Amino acid sequence: MTVLTIAIQKGGTGKTTTALSLGVELAQMGRRVLLIDIDPQSNLTQAVGHDPTQVEHSIYEVLLNPTYGPGFATLATSYGVDLVPATLSLAGAELSLAGRFGRELMLRTALTEARREYDYILIDSPPSLGVFTVNALTAADAVIVPLQAHIFALKAMPQLEETIAIVRQLNPMLAIGGIAVTMVDRRTSVNLVVEETIRQQYGDIVFQTTIPFNVKLVEAPASGQPISIYAGDSSGARAYRDLAQEVAARYE
Ligand SMILES: Nc1ncnc2c1ncn2[C@@H]1O[C@H](COP(=O)(O)OP(=O)(O)OP(=O)(O)O)[C@@H](O)[C@H]1O
Ligand SMILES: [Mg+2]
Repeated sequence: MTVLTIAIQKGGTGKTTTALSLGVELAQMGRRVLLIDIDPQSNLTQAVGHDPTQVEHSIYEVLLNPTYGPGFATLATSYGVDLVPATLSLAGAELSLAGRFGRELMLRTALTEARREYDYILIDSPPSLGVFTVNALTAADAVIVPLQAHIFALKAMPQLEETIAIVRQLNPMLAIGGIAVTMVDRRTSVNLVVEETIRQQYGDIVFQTTIPFNVKLVEAPASGQPISIYAGDSSGARAYRDLAQEVAARYE
């Protein structure tokens, strides 16, 4: 089994979209998948049709009491994946964890048992490098970086590498498992230049599959459905199907 954290510091690069779309595709390929929402924004929770204000238990309690394990808060979804939801109150966990010894290792500890129950655990982390992202990276075998094909993306990479170097003090095995170039608009030459630069710099770490800019990926979360259900024939759905095949080939 593999624990993958979807992270990069910058906001809005497609982390949540990638965690959900990839997770659902892997589940459709027969893999046992757990999605973990560790972002107080609760976007992933909403995107699979759960109301973060209504969930009984969330990642909050699991972080504060790692011996519970994720099963304490796990919800079923209609899409073949299990979900540990987030709630807005998760923001308060930051304070509750602040004084605790080993606070960066809470999620890792919580996942010990669950590692045997799932083929993939995908963790959707928030944009800031706070205690949640550090927990997500410390728990991970590898980090998947959705990188927007935008000129700013190139500036974000040194920052990400710095972050990984810091987290390696807690999780020496952490590696960049893959870079997925997202929101690619083939009509924009700057997109292609950025993609080329990323490939030159990172080589085989970059997935062959690129995720196109596709408006269906914007609409799907509002419907509470993953892209494969909302618009299974869209370019976005097809791209995430291909990406799931690549991920499976890389980790199995
Ligand atoms: N390939 C794509 N094409 C078009 N829109 C996309 C694509 N991927 C994501 N989006 C949209 O861009 C916005 C940001 O995506 P998403 O929420 O996945 O980013 P994020 O990295 O999780 O953001 P945050 O850092 O705030 O958590 C959303 O409205 C999403 O629907
Ligand atoms: Mg997000």
